[in-house]
Formats: sequence, structure tokens, C-alpha cells
Amino acid sequence: MFTDLHAPLIPILRYTLATTILPSTGVVLDLACGPGEKLPVLADRCGPEVQFVALDIDREAVGAAQVSQPDTNGIVGNGMALPLRDACCTAVFCIAALGLFANAAIALDEMHRVLHPDGRVFIATATQLWAPVTHWPEALATAYEQALMAGHPPLSATADLQEYSSQLLHQAGFAAPQIRAFLLAPSIRPSQAELALFSWNDVRLLITPYLSHTNLQHCEHATESVEIELCTVVLVTEAIK
Ligand SMILES: C[S@@+](CC[C@H](N)C(=O)[O-])C[C@H]1O[C@@H](n2cnc3c(N)ncnc32)[C@H](O)[C@@H]1O
Repeated sequence: MFTDLHAPLIPILRYTLATTILPSTGVVLDLACGPGEKLPVLADRCGPEVQFVALDIDREAVGAAQVSQPDTNGIVGNGMALPLRDACCTAVFCIAALGLFANAAIALDEMHRVLHPDGRVFIATATQLWAPVTHWPEALATAYEQALMAGHPPLSATADLQEYSSQLLHQAGFAAPQIRAFLLAPSIRPSQAELALFSWNDVRLLITPYLSHTNLQHCEHATESVEIELCTVVLVTEAIK
């Protein structure tokens, strides 16, 4: 278990946000912003026209978030009873916090309520679970990055990893959830962290055109060393109201 979950989360956030449709105007909520460590990453991706609201139940955290990202409106409040009017946000981010709310379903209802029609929610949450982990050669990650650059949509997390989040999102009224999963580990590229949770069958069709014959063989050999490990997995979810 990592003592610092946040450092390896930042490259994963940048990586997923790069292929996410985000608003470039309006009010965007960073729900449970903490001291605002992720705010510069989120603000950078949304652009200067967006007005950020940083909300947390902890007053000191809200103060620190405003220091971390000046021009942010800080609000001390409860994610399960947001002090915001209906449909006032073009997007809601909730990073590393959903599991801390006493009731995640109520928090999701609140995110849904404050979003504009067609507004987007972006949630990253870490969980510990037993999963088959494959240590692929780096060439596989490079090939996957090339496939994404060529316009292929990112791989969705395996059905078992999607199950819990997707149920909660549907219950709150969100549509089209896209859920990606990453092994939270220091010093590996986000693409490697994502691929580690897939089997060769899951990735083969997408990636084979981007691999040389030798690397293809290396990948096939890697499947022999799959191990079930207790790992920290980050689920990154996007959905539309
Ligand atoms: C692990 S921190 C994550 C902070 C930030 N999102 C980040 O990724 O750096 C979780 C935050 O959730 C906040 N929090 C917990 N329960 C909350 C609630 N009911 N309403 C609002 N914030 C809450 C805590 O005060 C804490 O700042």
C-alpha cells in the first residue's frame, strides 16, 4: 500500500484528461478539492475561461486550494448537500474522494443535480482489490499510445472492475459512463498502468498492428507470468448528465 497515493495519480489524471471532452466555459466544480493539489492540472486542461469552484468540508483545505489555484472560488460545504443551485455547473470533478463520503450514492445524486443538462462528471477513485496483473514489455505500452494517437478510443476497464461504479452512476441518472482502470504504482507510465489490468485477449486486436513480430512474441510470453495480486486500482470514470 502506498503512503502517498497522490503523486502517481497525477500522471494518470493528465493522461485520461488528454482524451476527455471537457467544457471550456462556465462554472466547474472540484468537489472535495482538499488542499488543491489537482486543481492546477484540472484548470490547465479546461482553460482560462472556466470559473473553478473548489469545495471541501474542511475549511483549511479550501483556503489551501485557493492558494494553489488563485482565481478559484472556495466554498466550505458538504458533498452530500451541495450549497449550489441546480444545473449551475458545466462539469464536476471528484478526485480521490468518492469513497470518503458517508453515502456515495447521495453524493452522486448531488453531482447530477448541480450539472447542466449534458454536463460531465469526472471521478477518480482508488480501491484495493485482488486482480490478475501482467507485467508487459514496454513495447506494448508504446504500441497502445500509438493506437490512441491514431484515434482509437481508450480501452474500457474489464466488466468486473466496471460493475460497482457503473451501477452507482446509472442509479444517479448519468448516461454513457466510460470507466478506465489503472494499477496505482510508482514509476510506470499511465499506459503501462492501464494495460497491466488487461489480458492478452483484451488487447491483442487493438495493438497487434502497432507491434513488430519480435515484440508480439515478447507480449505472448508475458502472459505466462500473470499473477493475481492485491493491488491498488484507480478507477477513472467519465459520464454525461
Ligand atoms: C483524499 S482527499 C482528496 C483531495 C483532492 N480531491 C485531491 O485529489 O487532492 C479527500 C477530501 O475529501 C474531503 N471530504 C470528505 N468528506 C467530504 C464531504 N462530505 N464533503 C466535502 N468534502 C469531503 C476531505 O476533507 C478531503 O479534503
